[in-house]
Amino acid sequence: MNASNLKTLPIELDAQRLPQHVAVIMDGNGRWASKRHMPRIAGHRQGAKILKDLVRCCKDWGIPALTAYAFSTENWRRPSEEVDFLMALFEKMLRHELKELDREGVRLSFIGDLNGLSPTLQQVMADAMEQTRENTAVHFSVAVNYGGRHELVEACRSVAGKVQRGELSLGEISEDDLEQQLYSGGTPCPDLLIRTSGEQRLSNFLLWQLAYAELYFTDAFWPDFDRAAFAEALVEFQARDRRFGGLKDKGIPAPAALLTA
Ligand code: FPP
Repeated sequence: MNASNLKTLPIELDAQRLPQHVAVIMDGNGRWASKRHMPRIAGHRQGAKILKDLVRCCKDWGIPALTAYAFSTENWRRPSEEVDFLMALFEKMLRHELKELDREGVRLSFIGDLNGLSPTLQQVMADAMEQTRENTAVHFSVAVNYGGRHELVEACRSVAGKVQRGELSLGEISEDDLEQQLYSGGTPCPDLLIRTSGEQRLSNFLLWQLAYAELYFTDAFWPDFDRAAFAEALVEFQARDRRFGGLKDKGIPAPAALLTA
């Protein structure tokens, strides 16, 4: 990979066939830090810097949506010092970066069971979402206290409520009805999922939304996942033959409905 000027899209990549939404599972922060005899939180701090640059990279290269898995419903099981550090890091990053992200046209969304977070953090997140609602350069979603199964149960509950109130009949329920009730309702589904640190599983992330995504796994730890590493993932994405269950060759676009389903 020619990494000499990664401010612009590397020449190895075709601007017409970039993913329109990339999802990332940012794994390996702790191992990155341990390898350097540093505390785990140092890995999260460096990981946050990498994420910040990835948002800007998406803008620079013309990728309109990025979703990052920052904290799962299972992450509460970690030592309380680490959980507290992560919560404080989310708040600090938001307070420090919001103005600049807003100026750059980034729309911020937080997805997950946000009611489980501290009232202060909920407020900072709600303000950030409101302030950036009209921005269109990149849609950056951060999954916090997120669990894919929980999201689906909640979506089912909402659809069932509509049926109960007589707004929808049982036979009418469509994929679209359910998708609209997801935290990400209205955002096109990711077409590429990247997971770092050599682990190869979804870990309850975007279970519905990743149905047709290409999966890319790399051994790099998240804090090392720089623009050059991202470019490698995109090269691999562009080499994949995306058939969406059909027989068509790559380069032939899938039906629009499938691109969002
Ligand atoms: C997984 O690595 C990482 C996390 C659970 C936290 C990810 C959060 C950040 C990178 C900060 C993001 C900041 C903002 C503002 C959204 P791990 O700790 O499980 O690593 P390990 O598997 O090596 O232990």
